[in-house]
Amino acid sequence: MEQCIARPATATAPLPARPPMLEVRGLDKHFILHMQGGVRIPVFEGAGFEVRAGECLTLAGPSGAGKSTLLRCLYGNYLVQRGSIRVRHRGEPVELVGAPARRVLDVRRATLGHVSQFLRVIPRVASIDLVMEPLLARGVAADEARARAEALLARLNIPPALWALAPATFSGGEQQRVNIARGFIAEYPVMLLDEPTASLDADNRSIVIQLIQDALARGAAIVGIFHDEEVRAAVGQRSYAVGHTEAAA
Ligand SMILES: Nc1ncnc2c1ncn2[C@@H]1O[C@H](COP(=O)(O)OP(=O)(O)OP(=O)(O)O)[C@@H](O)[C@H]1O
Ligand SMILES: [Mg+2]
Repeated sequence: MEQCIARPATATAPLPARPPMLEVRGLDKHFILHMQGGVRIPVFEGAGFEVRAGECLTLAGPSGAGKSTLLRCLYGNYLVQRGSIRVRHRGEPVELVGAPARRVLDVRRATLGHVSQFLRVIPRVASIDLVMEPLLARGVAADEARARAEALLARLNIPPALWALAPATFSGGEQQRVNIARGFIAEYPVMLLDEPTASLDADNRSIVIQLIQDALARGAAIVGIFHDEEVRAAVGQRSYAVGHTEAAA
């Protein structure tokens, strides 16, 4: 048990608090289904939290609560109706709500990674190229990008025979591991993970837990959705309940 020892204020200068890598304030999201009579689907209201370097915040809530929607809003895939999303990018907080597309793309290239639950398969693009792409986009030389992609695919137990193949025919778990390799290769300072272990067996789940722990150790700030209690316990430090007030009542 950690002890709290009172010290005189002058004993040592306090360590400067680490600034938040991600700061979310007052975020509202609803969907309007224009093709279905304009039905309004409230998802969350006033969502807010912050995540610092080396921290993992897990999103909690029942199916349909809005966890994936919140991650997609943080990545800029969905617009929000109100609120602020600030990401620390190249040492400065950058507001993503209302930001021009080129700024969002720059933040994604250098700072913000997103591992969706399912791989978006692009026909005829080899797995190794999918995994290398985030490094190439940053200007890393092709040889180095390839070597790092191979090392990560090997670590995730994707057999070398599959590296040159497009993942359309891969099993669900293989596709998920290619997706994880693509999401982890660039060592983003802020990472959004949507059920990255949902289709994995116990051995591969442990490897992904280790990858997440390595990312936290190098100082990544992570927001994750983990269906699996074992994964949550291994990597999560705090939890945030997603939902709107009507659903919570
Ligand atoms: N593109 C969309 N258009 C309209 N409604 C949507 C859209 N995406 C999500 N929703 C709705 O938003 C709500 C939240 O969905 P979301 O996928 O975020 O839930 P979740 O908490 O991730 O659930 P699960 O645990 O099942 O993955 C659901 O009612 C869903 O129908
Ligand atoms: Mg979801």
